[in-house]
Amino acid sequence: MTNYKIAPSILAADYANFASELKRIEETDAEYVHIDIMDGQFVPNISFGADVVASMRKHSKLVFDVHLMVVNPERYVEAYAQAGADIMTIHTESTLHIHGALQKIKAAGMKAGVVINPGTPVEALFPVLDLVDQVLIMTVNPGFGGQAFIPETMTKVARVAQERQERGLSFDIEVDGGIDNTTIGQAKVAGANVFVAGSYVFKGDLVERVATLREALND
Ligand code: DX5
Ligand code: ZN
Repeated sequence: MTNYKIAPSILAADYANFASELKRIEETDAEYVHIDIMDGQFVPNISFGADVVASMRKHSKLVFDVHLMVVNPERYVEAYAQAGADIMTIHTESTLHIHGALQKIKAAGMKAGVVINPGTPVEALFPVLDLVDQVLIMTVNPGFGGQAFIPETMTKVARVAQERQERGLSFDIEVDGGIDNTTIGQAKVAGANVFVAGSYVFKGDLVERVATLREALND
């Protein structure tokens, strides 16, 4: 698979200036904007909700890759569809009804993503693989940017890529957490093709850092 996509994470941007931060992301060659929604329950941190995403939508044409770290995310499917989310990704650990929740996301017209934490076995994804457009393997524990990449998660990326091939499916495989110009190569080799990067890209010149990630993918 060579359909690589880079997704700068708005979590690492300046929260007081989303409009200009989105403009800066548009100036890079990234395809996605990764948007982290945190409720202070599923993860300790709190970010923002669907109304903020709706406001952001007015300032960007990039694909909005919305990652919900909230309890019972099925409650918010309509809200994020109306806010203009393109992909809505939800955790298996966050609902008793992951299958139904993913069906609801598809029915609302969004692409459906499913995500697991580092401590969750990869098999938790298997019952819903035929429903999803994207699988996200967390490469840090969710909740905060700037954490170290967990290399052991790469066996899960490889396993889900193998399962995809065996079943003849075509979902994207995304990684999120601790992605930089070194770890991106490990994730690519394991089988990932969508790469979220927060602190690495925002802690330097955004255009240059995204270009460096792209170069690392070409190595
Ligand atoms: C963590 C979030 C990530 C975060 C990644 O819970 O899901 O999207 O922004 O940030 P970095 O790239 O700094 O690890
Ligand atoms: Zn995320």
